[in-house]
Amino acid sequence: MTEPYTIEKANDYIREHAGRVNPRYKGAFHFAPPVGWINDPNGLCFFRGRYHLFYQYHPYGTAWGPMHWGHAQSADLLSWEHLPVALAPDRDYDSFGCFSGSAIQKDDRLFILYTGVQKDDSCSNAGNEIQQQCLAWSDDGVTFTKAPENPVIPASALPAGFDAANFRDPKVWEEGGRFHCVAAAADGAGQGRILRYSSKDLLHWEYAGDYVRGLERFRGIWECPDVFPLDGAACLLLSVMNPPAGGVLPAGRPGTLWGLAPLETPADLDCPSININPFDALDAGFDLYAPQTFAAPDGRRLLFAWAHLWGGNETLERHGWMGSMCLPRELRAREGRLLQNPVREIEARLEPLEEFADPRPEGGMALETCPLMAITLEAEAGGDGILALDFFCAGEERLSLRYSAAEGAFCFDRSAAGLPAKDLPPGDLLRVIPYRAPAGRLRLRAFIDHAQLEIFVGDGELVFSSLIFPKRAGYEHRLRCGGAAHIITLKTFVIKERV
Ligand code: FRU
Repeated sequence: MTEPYTIEKANDYIREHAGRVNPRYKGAFHFAPPVGWINDPNGLCFFRGRYHLFYQYHPYGTAWGPMHWGHAQSADLLSWEHLPVALAPDRDYDSFGCFSGSAIQKDDRLFILYTGVQKDDSCSNAGNEIQQQCLAWSDDGVTFTKAPENPVIPASALPAGFDAANFRDPKVWEEGGRFHCVAAAADGAGQGRILRYSSKDLLHWEYAGDYVRGLERFRGIWECPDVFPLDGAACLLLSVMNPPAGGVLPAGRPGTLWGLAPLETPADLDCPSININPFDALDAGFDLYAPQTFAAPDGRRLLFAWAHLWGGNETLERHGWMGSMCLPRELRAREGRLLQNPVREIEARLEPLEEFADPRPEGGMALETCPLMAITLEAEAGGDGILALDFFCAGEERLSLRYSAAEGAFCFDRSAAGLPAKDLPPGDLLRVIPYRAPAGRLRLRAFIDHAQLEIFVGDGELVFSSLIFPKRAGYEHRLRCGGAAHIITLKTFVIKERV
């Protein structure tokens, strides 16, 4: 597909091609595109009685390309209705792509602040790109008008020496009668920074500071910052493109950090800078990037993230679509930790499948297995206890999560799992994550949706996410206890596609 890109052209293409994709690995309650490539969730909001999910979208191929904003809505965060494409790269200032951004409601209108990317051969920076923040609005939540004043935060609003090719992903909020946004940027030395801007009307923005301190050791380019109040703390989420070795993120793999800072009142976010401490990896698994949060009408802080496939996947390429979102999560902060749990809406979908009175899986046991299912278990796992869950077992294939009380760690291993993504380096097949089950009691909840697996540990202290593309249909999930470990409760559920 060649320029010019328009919304009409994108919608026509989607209409014509959506029926031709192979849905074999598509999830039922994880959002995936009708056709083509997706990455980051954008513009999350609740508007006119529906949750809205916008997303980075290249409808015309299964690889990243000129970014549009795709759009879907939902009443329950799990079943999605596709809506027309919201933004196409159809202006000079966004002709190279409408990159990530966020939404805010003002005077009964929905506004989105996104990054317009332009190629400009007169620029001296790498890739000749200029990234600037642009505004669009909608009265019906479906059709958007781009502001004639765009870009509303031009590259000239960067501090001196900053790189115009890395200035993106504005996350906007309102507090104290003003609008605020944070955006990812890079200083003259190529070091990631998070800048804050402030505005009274969304159109005119003032630079308000180099906002976040304490993360300088994460060298390189940062993306998709998000800052919000959470249970008496300021919570920061930040995606790091190419993390350095020796940190909490696996080196060289795109990953996301969470961080907390004390916060007396939400109004205190309006300050020159916040100091983040502590911080940790948002996901203990393999496939999660570029999250965004928003406040639901009932006050919950909800998160969506891209179940990322930066390297692509050969099978999905043939199937005509690429990428999906994680199961949306509810966030809490407690005693300096971020807790993540699946949105409670999933509970209404769970239908009991098996319940075991006194399971003794010492020699290993197979669970009745179906494509959409949940497993909840509680185990006594102290001393030399070992608990192993093997998912998608067929022949030599499996994806394993093993907890060893003696080692005080989980090992998440996908070296024998299904069809790999194209570019997985050997180091990206295994994660060893320190964890001690409180008082030797281990609690796990696993959610399986065709090719997507998410395991929530304890009160949500850890989440292991992984995509998996089982080669064979006849797989089963298995459970095994070793040493002093034994199961206290074990239940499985079918997850209904609709309530
Ligand atoms: C993160 C990201 C963002 C950018 C978008 C482009 O995955 O690189 O920084 O806005 O994707 O699609």
